[in-house]
Amino acid sequence: MDLSTPYSRHLAKLKIDRPTQNLQSDTPSGIKNEVKMKQQTNLTLLGGIITAGIVILSSFETATRTHSIGLLVENHTTATPQSEALEVLRHKCNVCHRKQNPFMVFNERNMVKRAKRINRAVFIQKRMPKGDLVKLSNDEYDILKAWLNQISIKQ
Ligand code: HEC
Repeated sequence: MDLSTPYSRHLAKLKIDRPTQNLQSDTPSGIKNEVKMKQQTNLTLLGGIITAGIVILSSFETATRTHSIGLLVENHTTATPQSEALEVLRHKCNVCHRKQNPFMVFNERNMVKRAKRINRAVFIQKRMPKGDLVKLSNDEYDILKAWLNQISIKQ
Protein backbone atom coordinates (compact mmCIF):
# COMPACT_ATOMS: atom_id res chain seq x y z
CA MET A 1 0.00 0.00 0.00
CA ASP A 2 1.36 3.38 -0.99
CA LEU A 3 1.33 5.77 1.95
CA SER A 4 3.43 8.54 0.45
CA THR A 5 0.70 11.11 -0.24
CA PRO A 6 -1.93 12.48 2.16
CA TYR A 7 -4.61 11.19 -0.21
CA SER A 8 -3.34 7.63 -0.14
CA ARG A 9 -3.00 7.79 3.64
CA HIS A 10 -6.60 8.93 3.76
CA LEU A 11 -7.63 6.02 1.57
CA ALA A 12 -5.72 3.62 3.78
CA LYS A 13 -7.42 5.00 6.87
CA LEU A 14 -10.84 4.62 5.30
CA LYS A 15 -10.06 1.02 4.48
CA ILE A 16 -9.07 0.31 8.05
CA ASP A 17 -12.06 2.16 9.51
CA ARG A 18 -14.68 0.73 7.18
CA PRO A 19 -13.62 -2.40 5.34
CA THR A 20 -17.12 -2.87 3.91
CA GLN A 21 -17.04 0.47 2.16
CA ASN A 22 -13.72 -0.15 0.50
CA LEU A 23 -15.12 -0.49 -2.97
CA GLN A 24 -16.98 2.77 -2.82
CA SER A 25 -14.14 4.61 -1.16
CA ASP A 26 -11.57 3.55 -3.69
CA THR A 27 -12.88 5.94 -6.31
CA PRO A 28 -12.56 9.68 -5.80
CA SER A 29 -16.31 10.15 -6.28
CA GLY A 30 -16.98 7.44 -3.66
CA ILE A 31 -14.84 9.33 -1.19
CA LYS A 32 -16.58 12.56 -2.11
CA ASN A 33 -19.92 10.89 -1.44
CA GLU A 34 -18.74 9.61 1.87
CA VAL A 35 -17.41 13.00 2.95
CA LYS A 36 -20.68 14.54 1.84
CA MET A 37 -22.63 11.97 3.86
CA LYS A 38 -20.50 12.73 6.88
CA GLN A 39 -21.09 16.44 6.49
CA GLN A 40 -24.81 15.84 6.13
CA THR A 41 -24.85 13.77 9.29
CA ASN A 42 -23.02 16.55 11.09
CA LEU A 43 -25.48 19.13 9.78
CA THR A 44 -28.44 17.00 10.84
CA LEU A 45 -26.90 16.62 14.28
CA LEU A 46 -26.25 20.37 14.53
CA GLY A 47 -29.83 21.08 13.44
CA GLY A 48 -31.11 18.70 16.10
CA ILE A 49 -29.03 20.35 18.78
CA ILE A 50 -30.16 23.83 17.78
CA THR A 51 -33.82 22.75 17.70
CA ALA A 52 -33.48 21.15 21.11
CA GLY A 53 -31.86 24.34 22.39
CA ILE A 54 -34.67 26.49 21.07
CA VAL A 55 -37.30 24.19 22.54
CA ILE A 56 -35.60 24.22 25.94
CA LEU A 57 -35.09 27.99 25.91
CA SER A 58 -38.66 28.73 24.89
CA SER A 59 -40.04 26.42 27.55
CA PHE A 60 -37.93 28.29 30.11
CA GLU A 61 -39.34 31.56 28.84
CA THR A 62 -42.89 30.28 29.00
CA ALA A 63 -42.25 29.01 32.51
CA THR A 64 -40.95 32.41 33.66
CA ARG A 65 -43.85 34.18 32.03
CA THR A 66 -46.41 31.87 33.62
CA HIS A 67 -44.63 32.35 36.91
CA SER A 68 -44.77 36.16 36.76
CA ILE A 69 -48.41 36.08 35.68
CA GLY A 70 -49.03 33.82 38.67
CA LEU A 71 -47.32 36.36 40.94
CA LEU A 72 -49.35 39.23 39.52
CA VAL A 73 -52.60 37.39 40.09
CA GLU A 74 -51.46 36.37 43.54
CA ASN A 75 -50.52 39.94 44.52
CA HIS A 76 -53.79 41.17 43.21
CA THR A 77 -55.96 38.64 44.99
CA THR A 78 -54.09 38.76 48.29
CA ALA A 79 -54.17 42.57 48.68
CA THR A 80 -55.87 43.14 52.02
CA PRO A 81 -56.66 46.33 53.99
CA GLN A 82 -53.58 45.54 56.06
CA SER A 83 -51.21 44.96 53.13
CA GLU A 84 -52.41 48.16 51.47
CA ALA A 85 -51.97 50.10 54.72
CA LEU A 86 -48.47 48.70 55.09
CA GLU A 87 -47.62 50.07 51.64
CA VAL A 88 -48.68 53.54 52.80
CA LEU A 89 -46.76 53.22 56.08
CA ARG A 90 -43.69 52.10 54.15
CA HIS A 91 -43.74 54.92 51.63
CA LYS A 92 -45.05 57.81 53.70
CA CYS A 93 -43.89 57.04 57.25
CA ASN A 94 -40.92 54.69 57.27
CA VAL A 95 -39.03 56.89 54.81
CA CYS A 96 -38.68 59.42 57.61
CA HIS A 97 -38.91 57.23 60.72
CA ARG A 98 -35.99 55.12 59.57
CA LYS A 99 -33.80 58.17 60.24
CA GLN A 100 -35.74 60.29 62.70
CA ASN A 101 -37.65 57.73 64.77
CA PRO A 102 -36.00 54.34 64.19
CA PHE A 103 -37.98 52.64 66.99
CA MET A 104 -41.19 53.33 65.10
CA VAL A 105 -40.45 51.69 61.75
CA PHE A 106 -43.58 49.84 60.72
CA ASN A 107 -43.74 46.29 59.32
CA GLU A 108 -46.31 43.48 59.04
CA ARG A 109 -45.41 42.17 62.49
CA ASN A 110 -45.68 45.36 64.52
CA MET A 111 -48.26 47.46 62.70
CA VAL A 112 -51.33 46.01 64.44
CA LYS A 113 -49.74 46.49 67.86
CA ARG A 114 -49.06 50.11 66.87
CA ALA A 115 -52.40 50.76 65.22
CA LYS A 116 -53.76 52.78 68.15
CA ARG A 117 -50.78 55.12 68.09
CA ILE A 118 -50.97 55.42 64.32
CA ASN A 119 -54.65 56.33 64.54
CA ARG A 120 -53.97 58.88 67.26
CA ALA A 121 -51.01 60.50 65.48
CA VAL A 122 -52.61 60.59 62.02
CA PHE A 123 -56.36 61.02 62.58
CA ILE A 124 -56.83 62.45 66.08
CA GLN A 125 -53.84 64.67 66.74
CA LYS A 126 -53.05 65.02 63.03
CA ARG A 127 -49.34 65.28 63.89
CA MET A 128 -48.25 62.72 61.32
CA PRO A 129 -46.89 62.67 58.72
CA LYS A 130 -44.67 65.22 60.42
CA GLY A 131 -43.56 68.30 58.54
CA ASP A 132 -44.55 69.67 55.16
CA LEU A 133 -42.53 67.42 52.88
CA VAL A 134 -44.59 64.24 53.17
CA LYS A 135 -48.34 64.46 52.61
CA LEU A 136 -50.94 61.71 52.48
CA SER A 137 -53.34 61.71 49.53
CA ASN A 138 -57.05 61.22 50.19
CA ASP A 139 -56.70 57.66 48.92
CA GLU A 140 -53.93 56.98 51.39
CA TYR A 141 -55.97 58.37 54.29
CA ASP A 142 -58.83 56.12 53.15
CA ILE A 143 -56.54 53.09 53.02
CA LEU A 144 -55.26 53.68 56.56
CA LYS A 145 -58.80 54.35 57.80
CA ALA A 146 -60.17 51.18 56.16
CA TRP A 147 -57.49 49.10 57.84
CA LEU A 148 -58.04 50.74 61.26
CA ASN A 149 -61.80 50.20 60.89
CA GLN A 150 -61.25 46.57 59.98
CA ILE A 151 -59.35 45.93 63.20
CA SER A 152 -61.82 48.10 65.14
CA ILE A 153 -59.46 50.90 66.14
CA LYS A 154 -61.61 53.95 66.75
CA GLN A 155 -59.54 56.11 69.07
C1 HEC B 1 -40.75 63.73 58.11
C2 HEC B 1 -40.65 62.78 59.18
C3 HEC B 1 -41.83 61.93 59.59
C4 HEC B 1 -42.83 61.42 58.81
C5 HEC B 1 -43.02 61.55 57.31
C6 HEC B 1 -43.69 60.65 59.69
N1 HEC B 1 -43.23 60.73 60.96
FE1 HEC B 1 -44.05 59.88 62.58
N2 HEC B 1 -42.60 60.61 63.73
C7 HEC B 1 -41.57 61.42 63.32
C8 HEC B 1 -40.75 61.79 64.45
C9 HEC B 1 -39.50 62.64 64.38
C10 HEC B 1 -41.32 61.19 65.57
C11 HEC B 1 -40.83 61.24 67.04
C12 HEC B 1 -41.09 62.61 67.65
C13 HEC B 1 -42.54 62.93 67.71
O1 HEC B 1 -43.31 62.14 68.27
O2 HEC B 1 -42.89 63.98 67.21
C14 HEC B 1 -42.48 60.47 65.08
C15 HEC B 1 -43.34 59.73 65.89
C16 HEC B 1 -44.40 59.01 65.46
C17 HEC B 1 -45.23 58.19 66.28
C18 HEC B 1 -45.05 57.98 67.79
C19 HEC B 1 -45.57 59.17 68.52
C20 HEC B 1 -46.77 58.84 69.34
O3 HEC B 1 -47.45 59.83 69.72
O4 HEC B 1 -47.08 57.68 69.58
C21 HEC B 1 -46.18 57.63 65.53
C22 HEC B 1 -47.27 56.67 65.94
C23 HEC B 1 -45.95 58.10 64.18
N3 HEC B 1 -44.86 58.94 64.18
C24 HEC B 1 -46.71 57.74 63.11
C25 HEC B 1 -46.44 58.17 61.83
C26 HEC B 1 -47.20 57.74 60.72
C27 HEC B 1 -48.37 56.75 60.74
C28 HEC B 1 -46.67 58.34 59.63
C29 HEC B 1 -47.08 58.20 58.19
C30 HEC B 1 -48.48 58.34 57.86
C31 HEC B 1 -45.58 59.16 60.09
N4 HEC B 1 -45.47 59.02 61.44
C32 HEC B 1 -44.80 59.94 59.25
C33 HEC B 1 -41.32 61.82 62.05
C34 HEC B 1 -42.10 61.49 60.95
